Amino acid sequence: MRTGTWSAPGRVNIIGEHTDYSGGLALPFALPQRTVVHARLRDDGRITVASDGYGEVEFPVATRPGEITGWGAHVAGVVWALGRSGAALSGADLRVHSAVPHGAGLSSSHSLECAVALALVGLHDLDLGRDQLVRIVQHAENEYVGAPTGVMDQMASLYGEADRAILVDARHLTAEPVPCDFASSGLDLVIVDTRSRHRHADGEYGARRRTCHEAAEALGMKDLRDVADLDDALARLTDPVAVRRVRHVVRENARVLDAVELLRGGRVRELGPLLTASHASLRDDYEVTVPELDVTVEAALAAGALGARMIGGGFGGSVIALVEQAGRKPVEAAVADAFRRRGFAEPEFHVARPSHGASRDR
Ligand code: GLA
Repeated sequence: MRTGTWSAPGRVNIIGEHTDYSGGLALPFALPQRTVVHARLRDDGRITVASDGYGEVEFPVATRPGEITGWGAHVAGVVWALGRSGAALSGADLRVHSAVPHGAGLSSSHSLECAVALALVGLHDLDLGRDQLVRIVQHAENEYVGAPTGVMDQMASLYGEADRAILVDARHLTAEPVPCDFASSGLDLVIVDTRSRHRHADGEYGARRRTCHEAAEALGMKDLRDVADLDDALARLTDPVAVRRVRHVVRENARVLDAVELLRGGRVRELGPLLTASHASLRDDYEVTVPELDVTVEAALAAGALGARMIGGGFGGSVIALVEQAGRKPVEAAVADAFRRRGFAEPEFHVARPSHGASRDR
């Protein structure tokens, strides 16, 4: 194939935060906002990337981590990871348009990586399935971009379906669709982009990942997914920080299963308290919130939201709030007002609706 157009969506996560890198569960869904890549095959071993938002970069198919930095690293990383998996790439021209808000914690970079990966696989007619692309994107992120992320974002982007949330099992790399329709219950899931981003977010993320890994080792298990008795596990940990982190992860995995049961039973409204409990745990036990996230959740709940929580890695980014459709505007107004009073940047609001995953469009 010489040319084509591929696209991949950003995501929100209903519940199951900071669980994927210890083999746990998450329940994200794909957003309607997508990154679109128009691609043309080249045969001279060069990759060119032109993006409306970020300008242009060009590099050879064979680069090493560190050679391409900035946003181009997300593309070069995918090229590198494909090469390392044995794929022979002859080169490509890529034109990128992204409608996924950048820096909002909605996985704009994973949507770019997934769209580029699919485009390169399609152009070169490679025999690589989506299950393999999950790991290829993770290698690009971890080893080329240098961000120690897990698998949840790309699984949401690659496996998303309209009106379905995706039960991600990060240990077995399975993605199971779960019916997810807010509107038919008279509800909206509102995304509040707080427009805040903490400088040390990547380092803090890496530290949490390490703590989970070390706690699993101390408990003599592969990862925290294997904790069967939480009280017993906590009693065996001596570090109070590890105790808090493990408590979050184990309870968060349980909340994912509760949320799946509610969605399957059409009890969408009852998700509210689970969201709010997840936020409290991310704030108090996992310590990944910042004032913008906590203020959003408090203001939304005070204005009548059924539940609300931060999503993604934390230290900025977005909050989701489950609201009655008729109560959406008052919740948005209350959050905007709380932000004004605190002198925070003006937040942005989107209604989230589960949409289809990465695809070939033309
Ligand atoms: C980021 C990572 C994901 C996941 C979330 C936290 O979005 O990319 O892999 O770990 O943080 O749940």
